[in-house]
Amino acid sequence: MYTLSNNSSLKGGEYKILSVLGQGGFGITYLAEQVMLERKVALKEFFMKEYCGRDETNHMTIGTDGSRDTVNRFRAKFLKEARNIARLNHPGIVHIFDVFEENGTAYYVMEYAVGGSLAQKLKQTGYFSETLAKRYIIQVAKALDYIHQKRMNHLDVKPGNIMLNENGDAILIDFGLSKQYDAMTGRQTSTTPVGISDGYAPMEQYKPGGVGEFSPETDIYALGATFFKLLTGLTPPSASDVNEDGVPVNELKDKGVSQKAIDVICKAMQGRKKERLKSARTFIDLLEADTPPAPATKQPEVEDNEATLAIVVETPQNGNQHADPAVPNPHDEGIASQTEVEDPDYAEEMAEAEKEFAKAMENQKAWERNEHEQEKKETEQEVKEISTLQLLKNVLAALLAIVLITVIVNGIIESTRSRNEAIYEYTADSAAYEEAAVDTMGWSAEPEEDGPYPEGEY
Ligand SMILES: Nc1ncnc2c1ncn2[C@@H]1O[C@H](COP(=O)(O)OP(=O)(O)O)[C@@H](O)[C@H]1O
Ligand SMILES: [Mg+2]
Repeated sequence: MYTLSNNSSLKGGEYKILSVLGQGGFGITYLAEQVMLERKVALKEFFMKEYCGRDETNHMTIGTDGSRDTVNRFRAKFLKEARNIARLNHPGIVHIFDVFEENGTAYYVMEYAVGGSLAQKLKQTGYFSETLAKRYIIQVAKALDYIHQKRMNHLDVKPGNIMLNENGDAILIDFGLSKQYDAMTGRQTSTTPVGISDGYAPMEQYKPGGVGEFSPETDIYALGATFFKLLTGLTPPSASDVNEDGVPVNELKDKGVSQKAIDVICKAMQGRKKERLKSARTFIDLLEADTPPAPATKQPEVEDNEATLAIVVETPQNGNQHADPAVPNPHDEGIASQTEVEDPDYAEEMAEAEKEFAKAMENQKAWERNEHEQEKKETEQEVKEISTLQLLKNVLAALLAIVLITVIVNGIIESTRSRNEAIYEYTADSAAYEEAAVDTMGWSAEPEEDGPYPEGEY
């Protein structure tokens, strides 16, 4: 195992590892005790499991020299990210207490959210009532509004990254690291899909460089998708399916979700960024408004019309539409550059994004297959170990049984022998006594005809 073992000490005994809470592509999160303060904390260790190992002194080792640079770069990023989160101060964002380096890697220490994640809670309850789901989603939206004002993105909003504190309030964890991981390697769609949470990530996250700039709408999509999950218990369809068929509103209606909440979700989960809700503040305002908002600006069929229109535009007579300076560059997705002008490149952009998406999905499947194989191997190994252990146990039990039986049989033999001896001694004594009686009192050793006493007297 690559994780630190329980009771390992860090920072000269200041922290003691209690258990593993979770592990991802580039980090392991532990439950730990801050010994002097006698409190539980969550401790995240930078550990890129694809590239790293650990020696017997708990030191992180790096597989190949080629990966050393990458690992070092990301370790620096990890520390920078921790320092950035530490500067945030919002009740909906996890508090960072400490950051340090040890074992050739880096750690940050944060408040321990005792209530577990919303993903874990959903596993127990299936889905939440609209009142509860709305309470959580507004708390998360407020946290997002706060970081967006600081021009920071989260980029991995989903129930697994929303924890509950001791008051049952939602707090966001796991900031932007995944995104930076992908952006730095530039291999977002060609390696493991770390940083892309299918169902929650909008189309632009599947495109290399798709979220190159500050992009609050990307978090808004994930916020809408998370709301969908909380209300239905169902993971929303992949972005390309939502793009094709729209949000599956019937699932929401089946659960009795209000039209207002449905409309907010549809507005948040628009395929095109420019048609999506622009800010977390608007998301909150619409959800808290007394009257239902107007229906989402683009319904799926409008998207289809637009795609058809774009294909018509793409005729030889029209030449290369990219050359038209009036048409905005589809890859220029920064907020400042956004415009409400209709985009005839949309179909091409979407086709490209879909190709990337399909590639990413293939990689995801390959990765899952690999994980599955790995798990299978580990299980087989465990089964082997268990059967060897079982065999050993059986042999020991048999030996123990033999020893016990031997002891018992010996005991029986011994006790029978001493009983026989006692009988023998008694018989011998009786004979001697009788002999003595004959000698001294004249008793006959031979029985008299009627015995020594007349019959019938006793
Ligand atoms: N502050 C925390 N309090 C309690 N549990 C946490 C905390 N941070 C993370 N966890 C647990 O560890 C898991 C993985 O942590 P996370 O930071 O999301 O890493 P990953 O990069 O592996 O997704 C979470 O799903 C959660 O169960
Ligand atoms: Mg996470």
